[in-house]
Amino acid sequence: MPCGLAINEYYPQMYAQQKAFKVIPGLFTSMLVVQDLHAIRDILITQFENFPDRGFYVNHREALSANITHLDYKLWKPLRQRMSPSFSPAKVRYMFPTLLQVAAEFVTVFRDECHQQANIVEIYDLCARFTTDFIGNVIFGIQCNSLSEPKSEFRIEGDKAFYQLRKPHLDFFAVKFSRIMQFFNIRVFDKRSNEFFIRVFRQSLEHREKNNLRRNDFMDLLIDLKKQHENDEEMPLSLEMLAGQVFAFFIGGIETTSCTMSYALYELAKNHQIQDKAREEILQVLLKNQQQFNYECLKDLTYLKAIIQESLRLYPIVPTMPRICRRKCTIKTDAKSAVTIKPDTPVLIPIYGVQHNPDFYPQPDRFLPERFTEEENANRDPCTFLAFGGGPKICIGELLARMLITLGLAMLLSEFRFSMCERTPQELAFDPENMFILYVKGGIHLKVEILKKS
Ligand code: HEM
Repeated sequence: MPCGLAINEYYPQMYAQQKAFKVIPGLFTSMLVVQDLHAIRDILITQFENFPDRGFYVNHREALSANITHLDYKLWKPLRQRMSPSFSPAKVRYMFPTLLQVAAEFVTVFRDECHQQANIVEIYDLCARFTTDFIGNVIFGIQCNSLSEPKSEFRIEGDKAFYQLRKPHLDFFAVKFSRIMQFFNIRVFDKRSNEFFIRVFRQSLEHREKNNLRRNDFMDLLIDLKKQHENDEEMPLSLEMLAGQVFAFFIGGIETTSCTMSYALYELAKNHQIQDKAREEILQVLLKNQQQFNYECLKDLTYLKAIIQESLRLYPIVPTMPRICRRKCTIKTDAKSAVTIKPDTPVLIPIYGVQHNPDFYPQPDRFLPERFTEEENANRDPCTFLAFGGGPKICIGELLARMLITLGLAMLLSEFRFSMCERTPQELAFDPENMFILYVKGGIHLKVEILKKS
């Protein structure tokens, strides 16, 4: 079992005993698992300034590791402030035409795969090729071509870099020995991965600068930031550092969205009634919009959105979320007690445990999108759904992810029917080597029936 999931095994007993915190002794430092919702809210939101970091190891001499997901508060805050506008609702909407184009190619490739594989399709890899091409386009500003070439350089390098993220021992050591590790220039990613992503970023940047191209996108924002901050002592933004940021968005966006799409399709293959109801809604929306998806019509796909929410509840891609306490502070709990936390204590939020709590989600192991109607949502504490994290550090790509997954699934469901086959597991088993995200090794095979002739 991935260690990010194993941490959640403490949660049911902690909840039953109304134990707000549990100390897990470690080799170098003890960690604190938090069960209580009031305390979780305090850590993520109310007392964010006392828990502003995730505590990941950063090597400032290595472009890929010095990225927004790893950086300490001092550098994270100005970067996040400057990058957030690129993921505003208006900017995300601006990316829709590109998404529509990539999604059309996705459907064509999906259909070809059905023909070639006698209708038994491994859906994860196809979804990842779709999300790679879209995220590569809107983040790097380039064509990754992984739908047309399954073994494209981007897919291979992205996968390799993603694999190298699974080094929790570095983060455990770093809690105490970060300076020594930096002194010995210990890297998170290998030299080739660093070189690949810096090279691609440099080429894209030079191409735009040389041809005076502007697309009003994330790359444009980075080019402007580079000009403004090149010689800024407080926040120096070199080409390498910007490449690291682009890399974080690329890696953070691809696997998370492709896993969510695959797990939703897997559940729909198991639950035909839910699948038929979703398809009915999608076909109605298409009928009202001259058989064309547009940005506005996504909001009418309320049942499909509930399906996505339920997939993220059942399978939160990041099952445990870390924070580090930076200042001694006191956290209150629902039971009106209080706990004092010492500086440098790693704190773990068991997202999977919270999202499988039967008091918040009755019959938590069942796939029931009806849990996410407006009324049900209004009656639930927002901290009971944390698949995108929470507080100022909440996933910056949430809106983009939701648009990508909704359109991708809507296009697939309008054209194909998904069922279980002999190769489909009864339950999903997550790769233990992939410590921090819920990832199924070997993919997910489904039977796919083509509904519409091309
Ligand atoms: C279903 C899809 C996704 C899920 C489940 C997901 C989940 C998460 C979670 C749990 C965090 C940590 C939040 C926290 O610490 O409070 C996070 C952070 C982040 N995500 Fe996502 N994510 C998704 C898609 C994306 C996409 C599409 C992008 C970019 C294109 C992205 C980029 C990032 C970045 C850059 C951060 C770090 C933010 C910061 O430190 O300020 N994510 N995501």
